[in-house]
Amino acid sequence: KIDGVKIIDLPKNLDRRGNLSVIEEFKNIPFKIERTYWIYDVPGGEVRGGHAYKRNQEFIVALSGSFDVILDNGMERETFSLNRSYYGLYVPNGIWRQMQNFSTNSLALILASIPFDVTDYVYDYELFKKTLHEKVNNL
Ligand code: TYD
Repeated sequence: KIDGVKIIDLPKNLDRRGNLSVIEEFKNIPFKIERTYWIYDVPGGEVRGGHAYKRNQEFIVALSGSFDVILDNGMERETFSLNRSYYGLYVPNGIWRQMQNFSTNSLALILASIPFDVTDYVYDYELFKKTLHEKVNNL
């Protein structure tokens, strides 16, 4: 299991008029929300992500449909299938992530802890593993 990663159940207001779920920063997720983006209209078979963030933490919810999130901390790999809008996946910084198997009309909502910053991305998997190794050695 990858340290720090977790599925978080969200409050569910069940109602015959329709259900309602909610996310509040620091209450349901452990960071301040600085940015929100969503991924939609993903063609069948496409893969998103394929990078890590140095500082950014994220919370991913399948608002509609389903998809898989594959996480990798350089040593272990774990796959999470998201398919309900009343829970999400918390991904700490420093974890390699990939998203795939998007169903037709799926909608991925992502809450992020920092504004968009290209320099926060690590696109090179070998570099990712190397910096991780250095981090561990510096502890
Ligand atoms: P990217 O993070 O590479 O997408 P994914 O990880 O899902 O494959 O982002 C795709 C493009 O969108 C890229 O050109 C950067 C841009 N982008 C923003 O401008 N702001 C954002 O908050 C995000 C997440 C992406």
